[in-house]
Amino acid sequence: MTLREPEEPKVFITEEAIRRRVAELGRRISEEYAGVENLHLVGVLRGGFIFLADLSRALTIPRSVDFLAVASYETAGTPKGPVRLITDLRTDIAGKHVLVVEDIVDTGDTLDYLMSLLALRAPASLKCCALLSKPACRKKEVRIDYLGFEIPDVWVVGYGLDDRGRDRALPYIGVRSSSGP
Ligand code: IMP
Ligand code: MG
Repeated sequence: MTLREPEEPKVFITEEAIRRRVAELGRRISEEYAGVENLHLVGVLRGGFIFLADLSRALTIPRSVDFLAVASYETAGTPKGPVRLITDLRTDIAGKHVLVVEDIVDTGDTLDYLMSLLALRAPASLKCCALLSKPACRKKEVRIDYLGFEIPDVWVVGYGLDDRGRDRALPYIGVRSSSGP
């Protein structure tokens, strides 16, 4: 039996374009929170871990980091069940300036769920930064305060994003030809 490696995903957003955009977002967020004592970054696992790592280092203001995890798609393109919280934050966010850092906003269900959940904990402010958004897929209207890129309805992988656990560690954002633009 021969096992063939699946083809490499096609480059959709280059490493360099991601780097530039993350640096821009870092500058903008640093300016807008310049007067604030600390910005508390909330990373959404697992897809958001690389973006959070880079964005947190692009900031020039005092910041802290925490994570939560939600259940998401099981496989590319399969319909999802309701959003579930798998792991909660370690920190109390009451009175803190909170920025939720998401990999991608698709239907908007996850972000809508998270923002409602965190708003109940009385943060001083609550905003969201997403690397990618697929506006064509939106079912819930959600506000994205800081956005990296708008993309069409394609399944993207890399830079933290996966397809059934594959391709998360690619340095660029790619698509496989079956779902290409
Ligand atoms: P939403 O709740 O439909 O907005 O979905 C958000 C979550 O689904 C994201 O945080 C990702 O984890 C996952 N997701 C949506 N689209 C993609 C994609 O194209 N590639 C990888 N993961 C995706
Ligand atoms: Mg996510």
